[in-house]
Amino acid sequence: MKVLIADKFPENYIQTLREKEIEVIYEPKLGENDIPNAAKDVNFIVVRSTNVNAAAINAASNLKIVIRAGSGYNNIDVKAATAKGVSVANTPGKNSIAVAELAMGLIIALDRRIPDNVKDFNNGIWNKAKYSKAEGLYGKTIGIIGVGNIGKEIAKRAQAFGMKVIGYDIVISEGIGIDYIDNVEKLISMSDVISLHIPANPQTKGMFNDKLFGLMKKGAMLINTSRAEVIDEDALIKAVKEKSIFAGVDVFNDEPEGKDGTVISKLQNIDGIYVTHHIGASTEQAQDAVAEETLKIIIEYKNTGKVLNRVN
Ligand code: 3PG
Repeated sequence: MKVLIADKFPENYIQTLREKEIEVIYEPKLGENDIPNAAKDVNFIVVRSTNVNAAAINAASNLKIVIRAGSGYNNIDVKAATAKGVSVANTPGKNSIAVAELAMGLIIALDRRIPDNVKDFNNGIWNKAKYSKAEGLYGKTIGIIGVGNIGKEIAKRAQAFGMKVIGYDIVISEGIGIDYIDNVEKLISMSDVISLHIPANPQTKGMFNDKLFGLMKKGAMLINTSRAEVIDEDALIKAVKEKSIFAGVDVFNDEPEGKDGTVISKLQNIDGIYVTHHIGASTEQAQDAVAEETLKIIIEYKNTGKVLNRVN
């Protein structure tokens, strides 16, 4: 069996695959347009956020599974895979804690304006008066939209901060100490902090638009560690400028394909918006857990022909 790993992946897990007599092509710098050629004779393609398009799937005549080493699989052309009888699998829940930790980090950073504090200090500006105006998080209401694996980890952490947690989801989980609100608009109008944990799909595309921003409390925060597509970025900028809302986002439109270089975004240099480098899942702990699950999928298929975590 042969695997193409086209994104950064922990080396010790690659070694384990080789010990199990699985041939591994490790090319972490490949881009979307390089995959069709690189994947020609492989049985598995493993990616993180690199796109696997129809051309790649159709070029790989021995392909069995495209594995998304992570949670959201909107970077894989699932329709093309299904049409060709290729499975698509992911590693749900394995990076949830890391994403929740970043979301909490963005919430605290926004409340205390930590990045601006540091930037001013480094520029020789002392501004204790300006930065002494944080409201604090204790007793505030956080509204979680999408109470899945990640949403639940955020709920736990927010509760530990003494926040009231409300949630919106089509599936209700009992015993997690949150109040479900059956209407997303109502949840938005009740929340001091809103955290989005929904997949990118035709139903959620541009969901957070002028109308939903209009329902947010003045001075409330929006955290997006899910997918850029769920927010209308022009509406976000307008809301930040006109309604004094704050935003902490780990995802944005036109994210660069590579892992380093330059970046251009409408969200740059706007007071009240903090953008991180799509690093939600990027802790060593999370990537080890994701790699372990990826290996499980490959080895299970090699031994039994069964596809774990299949999404199509
Ligand atoms: C995910 O869907 O798992 C996260 O967005 C992580 O993406 P990454 O693996 O490209 O960092």
